[in-house]
Amino acid sequence: MAAWWTAEDMRLIIAPSILACDLAHLADSLRAAEEAGADWHHVDVMDGHFVPNLTFGPDIVKAVRSVSALPLDVHLMVEEPAQYAEPFIRAGANVVTYHAEVLPDPIPLARRIRALGARPGLVLKPKSPVSTIVPFLNEMDVVMIMTVEPGFTGQEFMPECVEKVAELRRRAGRDLDIEVDGGINEQTVELTARAGANVAVVGASVYRSGDIRAAVAAIRKGLEHNYRATD
Ligand code: DX5
Ligand code: ZN
Repeated sequence: MAAWWTAEDMRLIIAPSILACDLAHLADSLRAAEEAGADWHHVDVMDGHFVPNLTFGPDIVKAVRSVSALPLDVHLMVEEPAQYAEPFIRAGANVVTYHAEVLPDPIPLARRIRALGARPGLVLKPKSPVSTIVPFLNEMDVVMIMTVEPGFTGQEFMPECVEKVAELRRRAGRDLDIEVDGGINEQTVELTARAGANVAVVGASVYRSGDIRAAVAAIRKGLEHNYRATD
């Protein structure tokens, strides 16, 4: 497969997910990830309706913001993203992604997120086709391809999602940040990077590895398959 860019023009981003960290020691976990080379922190927001789990509200983002200067990537797994984007941005979110499955027209929310000073992005569940979001790509800074069914950390990567990453990269060109989320480890990150993903969300494979520094380094090595010299 031909590469899409060279090392000089692509950024590679590792975004550890706080869902998998030791929440009893959140600040220590964030610091360990940062010292290991994390680029963003990923915050999974679940409402108990869109997914069968409940997690974090804006106050947690505010707490993370108070101890970290890194960009905060807030993944809204909620049925009403339009209701919650603003409180999360006011709390410190820099990237706000929401699911294409819940908003037939995602453009007004993308514009509002941008007007509030954050970067908007759409997320696709494993069974949702890329074609449904192609008309909206111009409005998005990020698109995230879920590589597990959303809801929980520690699930197994779904290899059938890799082709969606490749299709999205073909259609979007190189300026879009393509994020992958779910079951990303040092093996699977390489598959997604070769397909064109440049942002890796990592939960269990980093926070539950026992060696956060080595785990982040391994993920970065895998991501680098993204920018082999063009043919
Ligand atoms: C799943 C979440 C993910 C999760 C990733 O619904 O969106 O961000 O935390 O965790 P791992 O990497 O363990 O699958
Ligand atoms: Zn997520």
